Amino acid sequence: MRVLVTGGAGFIGANFVLRTLAERPDVDLTVLDKFTYAANASTLDPVASDIRVVRGDIADASIVDPLVADADLVVNFAAESHNDRSLADPSSFVQTNLVGTYTLLESVRRHDVRLHHISTDEVYGDLDLDDPARFTETTAYNPSSPYSSTKAGSDLLVRAWVRSFGVAATLSNCSNNYGPYQHVEKLIPRQITNVLSGIRPKVYGDGANVRDWIHVHDHNDAVWTVIDRGQLGETYLIGADGEVDNLTVVTSILELMGREADAFDFVTDRPGHDRRYAIDATRLRTELGWTPRFTDFRSGLADTIDWYTAHRDWWAPVKAGVEAVYAATQQTL
Ligand SMILES: NC(=O)c1ccc[n+]([C@@H]2O[C@H](COP(=O)([O-])OP(=O)(O)OC[C@H]3O[C@@H](n4cnc5c(N)ncnc54)[C@H](O)[C@@H]3O)[C@@H](O)[C@H]2O)c1
Repeated sequence: MRVLVTGGAGFIGANFVLRTLAERPDVDLTVLDKFTYAANASTLDPVASDIRVVRGDIADASIVDPLVADADLVVNFAAESHNDRSLADPSSFVQTNLVGTYTLLESVRRHDVRLHHISTDEVYGDLDLDDPARFTETTAYNPSSPYSSTKAGSDLLVRAWVRSFGVAATLSNCSNNYGPYQHVEKLIPRQITNVLSGIRPKVYGDGANVRDWIHVHDHNDAVWTVIDRGQLGETYLIGADGEVDNLTVVTSILELMGREADAFDFVTDRPGHDRRYAIDATRLRTELGWTPRFTDFRSGLADTIDWYTAHRDWWAPVKAGVEAVYAATQQTL
């Protein structure tokens, strides 16, 4: 099977490539990635001779088209993915998440190639902290930020191309991922590398915001489950019942790293910060038989701390730049 992985040099896409190489010898992989600030070229270095890597934009039809023509399946991880950045400058989010997905759709339509589109639970907006509800496949879209609204738009484009043009596509919307190779701008690696760098961790607002955490390997196993057994045209929610509030995430990191649990600072909340996300993955579990393997969040967190501790070379070159961007943003709030 020839698989084109867009965004395969980013966090989830690179983990997908590495695990697929290890577990599916019948798969031939090509990565298409623009190598934005979010990519880390060194992640794929150890497997460079086992895959084909193309540097290019998913919104550029002249690059996309020949690659799609040569594939049996496209898995679209490529996106601008950081909420805070989308508030500072939404333009690249519109371009990549909307125009890029449109470009891929036209190409898979032209060449009759299967697409699996990766998306986020943030398209559903947020839930109140005391609301017992969780998101399901039928929850109405209600995105809050330029990031989540452009992801929502990309999902709707995929659904429309399925309905209007018969494109063979599936979609999955996943909750918050953690694990190795995640950019240090994101909550968990940022706070781990803060502690490793002698910087006090930061908590937005009151820290009560709840995220539904899933290990990146569970996400990618679920993606393969949908590719293998999902029904064309359908959407599957991916989540591992991992609701934890941000304050608990940060104090757990501090405790696991041998620091005082209160050795952090509260900082001004970001505008429009969603309060709670929670996924009901019943459909994926019952119809497709998927179950998560990394269900103990604290032990997954401990493994992730070990990974960042052992891979300082991977993250140290970009750490200072990320903290400078956060410091400048805080001054404008
Ligand atoms: N991180 C999460 O918790 C999470 C949760 C659910 C869904 N998702 C979705 O999963 C996907 C991957 O997320 P991630 O966390 O790995 O993101 P990431 O920012 O770590 O990686 C994105 C990758 O896409 C590449 N890219 C960006 N614009 C591109 C373009 N125009 N053309 C080609 N490549 C481009 C980047 O260079 C990078 O390698 C995204 O679609 C995101 O919305 C992420």
